[in-house]
Amino acid sequence: MAASLSSDDVIEVRVVSPAESSQLLEFLLEHYYREEPLTVGTSPPSQPDQADRDFLLSHIPNQTCLTLRLKESGRIVAAAVAGSKDANEGQHLEEYAKEFVGTKWGRIVNLLTQVELLSNVCARYQVSHALHIHALGVDASMRGQSLGARVIKAMEEQARKLGYPLICLDCTSIYSAQLVKRLGYQLVSSLKYAEYTNEEGIQLIQVPPPHERVQTYALKL
Ligand code: ACO
Repeated sequence: MAASLSSDDVIEVRVVSPAESSQLLEFLLEHYYREEPLTVGTSPPSQPDQADRDFLLSHIPNQTCLTLRLKESGRIVAAAVAGSKDANEGQHLEEYAKEFVGTKWGRIVNLLTQVELLSNVCARYQVSHALHIHALGVDASMRGQSLGARVIKAMEEQARKLGYPLICLDCTSIYSAQLVKRLGYQLVSSLKYAEYTNEEGIQLIQVPPPHERVQTYALKL
């Protein structure tokens, strides 16, 4: 079962089309947001804000959203959403976060802004732009069968096709960090959730164990 699930005979990689956006969202709500550490660790914990969903779906027209589907049934078993960024991404996120002050998505974007300013992969690797994987999810009943690795490899291929010199991601979950490390990605920077506090020292995002930090990883293409 484990070997056959990741085989080309069983799985089809598809670039998500605008017509498939509700299918992608349905999958992400069930298999990504429910467990993604920032979504879980920021109240209200159960659901992502509408702005968060809109942000992910806004990448579909750029051909940077992928699904893995079972060929036989068409069922989505894994998905990844990515978008373009350049060396000004930190400043861009700082501005963007101002639109969402006081909301769950605003708190998440603030953390991601800190992470971006810390990692700044475009400047670090001296590339004009990079493809940033914002979301990665595998069907909860099919974890541990290399489907996450498979969708990441497919995204690398898509990134090359679209002319990106670098691919990267902020691993908010320990499982995603272990996964890309195995695939040869380089650790760029790391931020502990316990150290993400306000002026009074209160931790702003309470991420449950085993997740302790956001780790940014990158791979030159
Ligand atoms: N909870 C518990 N165990 C897990 C989880 C999980 N969320 N994810 C993987 N594992 C286990 C697997 O069962 C496997 O165990 P085994 O060695 O005993 O068989 C081991 O960890 C390795 O699994 P992988 O094959 O590397 O993981 P997979 O590709 O199936 O899934 C993924 C990894 C995609 C990160 C998955 O955990 C997931 O969908 N999580 C929910 C959403 C999320 O947190 N996404 C990542 C956020 S960061 C970002 O999106 C850029």
